[in-house]
Amino acid sequence: MGGLCVDLRVELAGIRLRNPLVLASGILGTTPSLLKRVEKAGAGAVTTKTLTLRPRPGYPNPVIVELDFGFVNAMGLPNPGVDCFLNELYGERKVEIGIPVIISVGGASAEEFSIISSKLRKYPVEVVELNLSCPHVKGHGLELGSDPEAVYEVVSNVRSNLPHTPLFVKLSANVASVLDIAEAALRAGASGFVAVNTLRATVIDIYAKKPVLSNVYGGLSGPAIRPVAVRVVYELYENFPRVPIIGVGGVDSWRAAVEFLLAGASAIGVGSVIARKDLAVFSEILKGLKTYLEAEGYERVGDIVGLAHKD
Ligand code: FUM
Repeated sequence: MGGLCVDLRVELAGIRLRNPLVLASGILGTTPSLLKRVEKAGAGAVTTKTLTLRPRPGYPNPVIVELDFGFVNAMGLPNPGVDCFLNELYGERKVEIGIPVIISVGGASAEEFSIISSKLRKYPVEVVELNLSCPHVKGHGLELGSDPEAVYEVVSNVRSNLPHTPLFVKLSANVASVLDIAEAALRAGASGFVAVNTLRATVIDIYAKKPVLSNVYGGLSGPAIRPVAVRVVYELYENFPRVPIIGVGGVDSWRAAVEFLLAGASAIGVGSVIARKDLAVFSEILKGLKTYLEAEGYERVGDIVGLAHKD
């Protein structure tokens, strides 16, 4: 008996993806050639490292700690600056990338986001992620992203510079009400959400009797945060069922990917698991997802998005 032919394609705010797996921001997205490697590994879309107005060297080492249940990192948003990266990505010596590239941007104020987005206008940018949730870089990320008014201002500024570009706001679970932040972002013109960024965390070396990371505070990623990320995706879908969500946080297997889809994500970010399983994790998750959908009798990934909300 022939099995079902499962369609892994998904659509995100009008952008077509060959499958729902997205390279999460900050993981390998530092050069176009690394993004190309992720495309070859099977991802449906890739997200760049968060780009800022000016180059940032990042924090001194140590910047990452591996734990039994995930990682805590504080890189400090190292990046060559938005101009340099976009020239490399779209300039004369560009590496052709055949899947959507999500340009992640970060800034210290609504004005800075406005300047960055006016620069993006000069390039064929397909999708933008606004990183309003980095949990540890002073003045960036969460300091703006935990205030609904600041989020409204940032998103409005970017939206007026990029009236037709899908804008995804990367949210944090480290806020009093993620729904208030999400509502402000939507009111200002956001197209969707990326949920969630890492959770603010600290690790102490018990022999040095000091924090391990040079920055003291970092962001926890990996399987430990998955139930928190799934909760946020579930809450967002429950309240804004038509708004596309890229679910991120501890996706290390096809089972975890299915969990996010059932909670309401239309696509799934793959991040720190790459450090443990390498890029082969993309084909591993896709194979398991396909087998699951076939066995459960579904023809499309979209058939199970948000299914955990139905009676
Ligand atoms: O340290 C970092 O570069 C982290 C960025 C983020 O969490 O958004």
